[in-house]
Amino acid sequence: MEQSKLVELLNDMSLEEKINQLFQANVSFYDKGSIVTGPVEEQGFTQRTIQEAGSVLSLLGAENIKNVQKEHMEKHPHHIPLVFMADIINGYKTIFPIPLAQGAAFNPEVARIGAEVAAKEVSAAGIHVTFSPMVDLVRDARWGRVMESTGEDTFLNCEYAKAQVMGYQGEDPKAPGRIGACVKHFAAYGAPEAGKDYNNVELSERTLRDDYLPAYEAAIKAGALLVMTSFNTINHVPSTANKWLMRQVLRREMGFNGVLISDWAAIDEIRKHGMCEDRKGAAKLAIEAGTDIDMMTTCYPNYLKELINEGEVDIALLDEAVLRVLELKNKLGLFENPYKDADEEAEKRLLLCKEHRQKAKEVAKETFVLLKNEQMLPLKREEKIAFIGPYIEEKGIIGAWSMFADEKDSVTIREAVENYGANVLFSKGCDTLWAGAEILSMDTYHRNTRTKAEQDAMMEEAVETARKADKVVLCIGEHRTQSGEGGSRGDITIPKHHKKLLKKVAKVNKNVIVVLFNGRPLDIRKIQNMAKAILVVWMPGTEGGNAITEVLYGETSPSGKLPMSFPYTVAQMPMHYDEFRSGRQINPETPDYRFQCKYLDIPNAPLYPFGYGLSYTEFDYSEVKLSADTLTRGGNLTAGVILKNVGEYEGAEAVQLYICDEVGSVVRPVRELKGFQKIWLKPGEEKQVTFTITEEMLKFYDINMEYVAEKGRFTVFIGGDSSTQNQAQFQLV
Ligand code: BGC
Repeated sequence: MEQSKLVELLNDMSLEEKINQLFQANVSFYDKGSIVTGPVEEQGFTQRTIQEAGSVLSLLGAENIKNVQKEHMEKHPHHIPLVFMADIINGYKTIFPIPLAQGAAFNPEVARIGAEVAAKEVSAAGIHVTFSPMVDLVRDARWGRVMESTGEDTFLNCEYAKAQVMGYQGEDPKAPGRIGACVKHFAAYGAPEAGKDYNNVELSERTLRDDYLPAYEAAIKAGALLVMTSFNTINHVPSTANKWLMRQVLRREMGFNGVLISDWAAIDEIRKHGMCEDRKGAAKLAIEAGTDIDMMTTCYPNYLKELINEGEVDIALLDEAVLRVLELKNKLGLFENPYKDADEEAEKRLLLCKEHRQKAKEVAKETFVLLKNEQMLPLKREEKIAFIGPYIEEKGIIGAWSMFADEKDSVTIREAVENYGANVLFSKGCDTLWAGAEILSMDTYHRNTRTKAEQDAMMEEAVETARKADKVVLCIGEHRTQSGEGGSRGDITIPKHHKKLLKKVAKVNKNVIVVLFNGRPLDIRKIQNMAKAILVVWMPGTEGGNAITEVLYGETSPSGKLPMSFPYTVAQMPMHYDEFRSGRQINPETPDYRFQCKYLDIPNAPLYPFGYGLSYTEFDYSEVKLSADTLTRGGNLTAGVILKNVGEYEGAEAVQLYICDEVGSVVRPVRELKGFQKIWLKPGEEKQVTFTITEEMLKFYDINMEYVAEKGRFTVFIGGDSSTQNQAQFQLV
C-alpha cells in the first residue's frame, strides 16, 4: 500500500480504533483459532478491544492463524489485518544451539543460518514477527539471560546482531519465508546490578554509548523492523518511560522509524517502579516516551482515550504510533496478503525437515568449546568408552526459550552414539535435576521424584560402569531451567549431585572427559581438577546428540571460542576482558604487593579468558606484521599474520584482532576486539590472515562526549584468544 493510503486509512479511523491498534492481544484470548469472548471482560478489556487489536502474541499454527485473521478482518471496521508475533529465539521446531553458543562459533554466518531456518519454519506456521535478536551485552554470568545473548563483547555482538536480522528478514521481510525482526531489549537490559534479573542498571552515558548501544544500532542499521523496550531502569528511569533514550537516542540519533513495542507488561511496571500513581499515569509516560505497542497490559486500551480527551496526551502522539503500526503491517505486505506464508502443507514439509536438522547439527558442531584436552580426545572407535551422566539420555537440551518445540524431537547422546556404532557402555548415574527439585519454567514444572535409595543405586551402577571402561565421557551440567529469564544464580557451579558423580567416577577411572551443558559461564574449578578433558556444549539444540558424538569421535574438530570469560569464581562478577586500566594495575613482577588492583584471596584472571578454545589440531601464529607504522585520517593499514596448522587434524581457528588505544583523553580499555576471521586449515596448511584497520575502528566517546579517534599510539594484538601477546604498534596521525 502506498504511504498516502496509509495516512488516509489512519485519518478515517475512530479514536478507539486507533488506540486498539496499539493493543497486543495474547494467545489466551483465542481458543483453537477463534476469538474468545468470556474471560476477556474480567481482565478489564472490552470485547471491542480484542476485536480491534493490532497484534497477537504467541498464537501459532497455520490453521489457527488463518481462522483468526479471517474472522478478525471480517469484523474489523476497516478490515485491518493483525500482525502475529512470537518469541522464536533459537528456532521454532528445529532448535539450534542457544544464542550464547552461537556466539562461541565466532562465525556470524551460523546465526544467519539459524535465523533463516527459524523464519522458514515459523512463517509457514503463520508468524510475521519474532522477538529476536536479543543483543544485550552481558558481563555478569549470574544473570540467567546471558544464554540469550552472544556474550561480553560489543564487536562480536554487533556482527551477530546484523547476521540475525539478515537471517530473519533477508532483503525484504515481505518475501516468502521471511519474518520481521524485533531487536531487544532497549537498552542495557544485560547490565542489571548484581546480575539479578529485572534489577536497576547504573551506567555512565559513556559506557552506555561505547559498549552497550552499538549492537542495537547494528541491528537497526541492518533493517530490524521493531525494537522492544527493556524492563530495567537506566540511571533511575524505566526504559519504557525514558523519553531521552527513546526519542533522542533511538529515534533521532539512530534514525529508527519502526515500531517500538513494550516488553511484557512493562508499561504497567512504570507504575510499579513508582514513577506514577496509576495505570493511567503509566500510559501517559509510555506514549510520551514513544512506546508504540502495549504488550500485555490494559494501560493503553483503557486510559489513552481519557488522556486524549482531557488534553493530557496530544493526539499527535497517538497518530504517530498508530501510523508506525500500519507501516509495519505494510512492510510485511499484510494489506495485500494478510495470511502471508501460513500454510498447513508447508508446515508439514518444513518443520524438522532433514535439511533443517542437518543445518542445526552443523551449526552445533561449530559452537562447542574445548577447554582442556590431555590427550583424551578425539575418541577412537575401538576404545571402550563409558558414557555416563544424566545428559546422556536428556532430551531437554534445547535451552530455556524453545517453548514451541517438542523435546521429544531432540536426539540424545545415547541415541546418537548407539547409532554411530562405537564400543560403548552407558549409565546415567543421576538425573539432571537434584533430589526433590521442583522448578517452574515457562508454565511447566520440572520435578525429580526419585527416592534416595533409587538415586544411590543409580550412582553405584555408574561407578561400576566407569571401572570397566578405558575412558569415561561424563555428561553433566546445569539444568536448562537454571538459565533463561528469571534464572539468575548466586552460585554458578554445576548441581551438587553432578559434582558427587564426577568425584566418584574420577576415583575409579582417571580418564574422565567432561561434556558440559550450560546456559552461562560456570565456575568449573572442581571439574578442571578432576577431568582430563572438558568440552563445553552449552544447550546444543535438537541435533545435540549427533553433533556431540561426531565431535567426540573426531569427525570434526571443535572450533568454538568462549564468547564470555569463564570466571575463576562467581566473586569476580561482573567480569569482561576489555576492562579499564587501573592506576594500580597488577605488576607481574610484584604480584603479591598489597596496594594493587586485585583481591587478596582470588586471582584477577578468569579460569579461561574470552576468546579461548582449543582444537584437536594445533595452530602456529607468525609475528604480527603491519603494512605501515602510521595510519592517516581516512586512510587504512593492514595487520596480518601467517596461520599454520601444525597438528595432525583438519581444524578451524577463529583468529582474533584486538586493539589497545594506549593514551586517551579518557581511560581506555586494555584492549578491544576489532575483528575476527574463522579459518579452516588442513594439517600442514598455512594461510595469510589480514585485517584492515581504519580510523573508524578506533573511535570512542572522548572527554567531551564526541565520537572521535584520537591521534597517538595503538597496539595491535592478533592471536587465538584475548590474552595473546602477539603484537605490533602504529601511530594514528
Ligand atoms: C521477555 C521478552 C519476550 C517477551 C514476550 C518477556 O518476558 O523479557 O524477551 O520477548 O516476554 O514473550
